[in-house]
Amino acid sequence: MSILPDETDPALARPELPFPPGFVWGAATAAFQIEGATTVDGRTPSIWDTFCRLPGAVTNGDTGEPGADHYRRMAEDVRLMTDLGLRAYRFSIAWPRVRPDGGAPNPAGMDFYQRLVDTLLRHDITPCATLYHWDLPQVLEDRGGWVNRDTAYRFAEYAETVLQRLGDRVPHWTTLNEPWCSAFLGYARGRHAPGRTEPEAAVAAAHHLLLAHGLGTAVIRRHAPHASAGVTLNLFPVHAADPGDPGDLDTARKVDGLQNRMFLAPVLLGSYPDDVLTDLAPFGLAEHVRPDDLGTISAPLDMLGVNYYRDLHVSSRPDERSGPPSEWVGAEHVSFPSRGLPRTDVDWEVTSEGLTELLVSLHEKYPRIPLYITENGAAYPDRAGPDGIVHDVDRIGFLDAHLRAAHAAIERDVDLRGYFYWSLLDNFEWAEGYAKRFGLVHVDFASQRRTPKQSALWYSGVIAGNGLRAVGE
Ligand code: FCB
Repeated sequence: MSILPDETDPALARPELPFPPGFVWGAATAAFQIEGATTVDGRTPSIWDTFCRLPGAVTNGDTGEPGADHYRRMAEDVRLMTDLGLRAYRFSIAWPRVRPDGGAPNPAGMDFYQRLVDTLLRHDITPCATLYHWDLPQVLEDRGGWVNRDTAYRFAEYAETVLQRLGDRVPHWTTLNEPWCSAFLGYARGRHAPGRTEPEAAVAAAHHLLLAHGLGTAVIRRHAPHASAGVTLNLFPVHAADPGDPGDLDTARKVDGLQNRMFLAPVLLGSYPDDVLTDLAPFGLAEHVRPDDLGTISAPLDMLGVNYYRDLHVSSRPDERSGPPSEWVGAEHVSFPSRGLPRTDVDWEVTSEGLTELLVSLHEKYPRIPLYITENGAAYPDRAGPDGIVHDVDRIGFLDAHLRAAHAAIERDVDLRGYFYWSLLDNFEWAEGYAKRFGLVHVDFASQRRTPKQSALWYSGVIAGNGLRAVGE
């Protein structure tokens, strides 16, 4: 049964807010969050397999098993995408399948991704591959992980193996997903794998991740000269809670530096911002930067992937959650006072207008780079009603508001080319395990039954009409 809405509906033919022709509508996932099958076909442990076994690290002691069992149900999942009318699918490739233990290539691991890509192409869904969505082989972490510069070169080797096989058929490549999380949540706060709480290590990791991005971009160019290449960053507008308070203003500057500009500027401008270099001097940033690094890191890109979930409203006055270990290296006492706004199930405030602000400001500061929203979405405690339907009205409201915000940015001349909802499927939400559901499609993890939520049907209507209908329609 097709769940596509009736395309003869005149309201769909003339959306109230049309998106540009060719706008890319998609959904995103990541390997460790959906695949399961963590010991199959030669895959070896990643830092997340190890981290999940640490007592208290992940809610309910959840692990990458069963995920959404996507490794075995890939064909069914591509059929779901087809039913939804998705034009593109953003997924990540698991390094520990492709070069287990960071060592020799494993053709059996690559076979899975070739099958996935070929199935997508057969269904006219554009494959958008991310090389690194956080699943570093554990053996490389044992050698220092991202704190060790050598890991960037191992990443380039891994990229080479992937591109040799798929470079001829994947048109869009992303090197890294959210290097900020890998570096600062993984090595400073310890909330993500590998769970280290060493601020200096996080700063080294950030630079080596950027270097890996640059080296990986060169590999993409060599093997897929006609493909587009980019990186995905998690970006946030940052505001001082009290714009009249110099302490809040300075904290906002620091948080913006760590979260946004520390990644944007090296990639798009070829230098670290002066204030970030000064703020991070006590943590040794400049000591890791070798003469050619910034040239490598700033190789021209075809697109910037923007993951947007909310804005940040920061105060210099600490609260009970402030202090080390903190992801905010050099600004550990920052707090995020509540504005009393509605929140999603992961406690993030809903701030859709921040998306317009972010896109417009990226366009003003970095005017040449085309933008894609590579993630945006919300967790809600979804349950099927007595009719078997998941009535996720909050998610529809979230999506509607954020698509309107994206549209407003396009009207202000932002070169925004696509939108990927996070996530296609309910999945393993990192430290929150299976407790938080972001999917358009509900997954019953015991039976692995998939049920498209009402939001999936709503989104497929948007895709079919290439835009939004008037409020209330
Ligand atoms: C992003 C991650 C993604 C998912 C969403 C909710 O930071 O890239 O894997 O967990 O958050």
